[in-house]
Amino acid sequence: MRVLTVIPTYNEKDNLPVVVSRLRAAVPDSDILVVDDSSPDGTGELADSMAAEDSAIHVLHRKVKDGLGGAYLAGFDWGLTNNYEVLVEMDADCSHQPEQLPLLIEAIENGAELAIGSRYVPGGKTKNWPAHRQILSRGANLYTRLILGTKIKDITAGYRAYRREALQKLNLDGIDSKGYVFQVDLAWRSEQAGLKITEVPITFVEREIGDSKMDGNIILDSMTKVTRWGLTGRANNLRAKFKK
Ligand code: GDD
Ligand code: MN
Repeated sequence: MRVLTVIPTYNEKDNLPVVVSRLRAAVPDSDILVVDDSSPDGTGELADSMAAEDSAIHVLHRKVKDGLGGAYLAGFDWGLTNNYEVLVEMDADCSHQPEQLPLLIEAIENGAELAIGSRYVPGGKTKNWPAHRQILSRGANLYTRLILGTKIKDITAGYRAYRREALQKLNLDGIDSKGYVFQVDLAWRSEQAGLKITEVPITFVEREIGDSKMDGNIILDSMTKVTRWGLTGRANNLRAKFKK
C-alpha cells in the first residue's frame, strides 16, 4: 500500500531531522509530507533541503500559522490528490515513535479504516508526560466520552492512520476545526459514519526538544466545539423521538 506520513511543523527545526530519519529507517516505504506554517525558526527551509536530498520527502508551505487541523487538512488534500492509499498523522517531536508506525499500518492491513495509536487501551502508555498534561488529556477524553457518548478511548490522540476511502467519506471540505479539536472532530465523524476503528496501544513519549504549541485558546476551542456537537446530537435524537 502507498503510505504518506503527514508531519505538521511549527518551530521544529531540531526535531524534524530526528523524526524523519527514524521514520525513514522504521518504514522505508512511507513517503513523507512536511506541512510547515512559515516557522520563524527556519523549519520550512530545512524541510526543503531535506526534500532536495531524498525524493520520498515532500514539503507544503503555508503562509501563516493556522492550526494543527488546518495543516492536516492541507496535507490530506495533497495526499489524496497524489493517490496515496494510507494517510498517517504524526507529530514532529517524536512523541509518536516512528518505530510503532508498523502497528498502525498492520491494523489498516487487517481491515481497519481508521487506526488510532491509543494511550488509553490496555498496553497503551505515556512516558515523561508532566502531571498537568496527563490530567488535561484524561479529563478531555472523559468529558468527550460523557458529552458525545463515543466508544473511542483516546479520542484526542494525534497518532493515526486513515485509509484513503475513509477520508473520502468524511466530507473534509465541511470541517472548520482548525486547532487540536480537529482530532476529536475526525474521530467523531468516523464513528458516526460507521467506519471500522481500531485502537492500537502505543507509548506516547513527551518531547525532549522544543515546546508544545498547546495553549488555553486551543483548550477552550475544543471544549466549546465538543459541547456544541454533544448538544446538537441530543437535540436531534429528541426530535427524532417525538416524530415517531
Ligand atoms: N503546521 C502547523 N501549524 N503545525 C502545528 C501547529 C500549527 O498551527 N500547531 C502545532 N503543530 C505541530 C507541532 O509542530 C507538532 O509537530 C505537532 O503539531 C503537535 O504539536 P505539539 O504542540 O507537540 O502537541 P502536544 O504534544 O501538546 O499534543 C499532542 O497530544 C495531543 C493530545 O494528547 C498531539 O499529539 C496532539 O495532536 C494531541 O491532540
Ligand atoms: Mn508534542
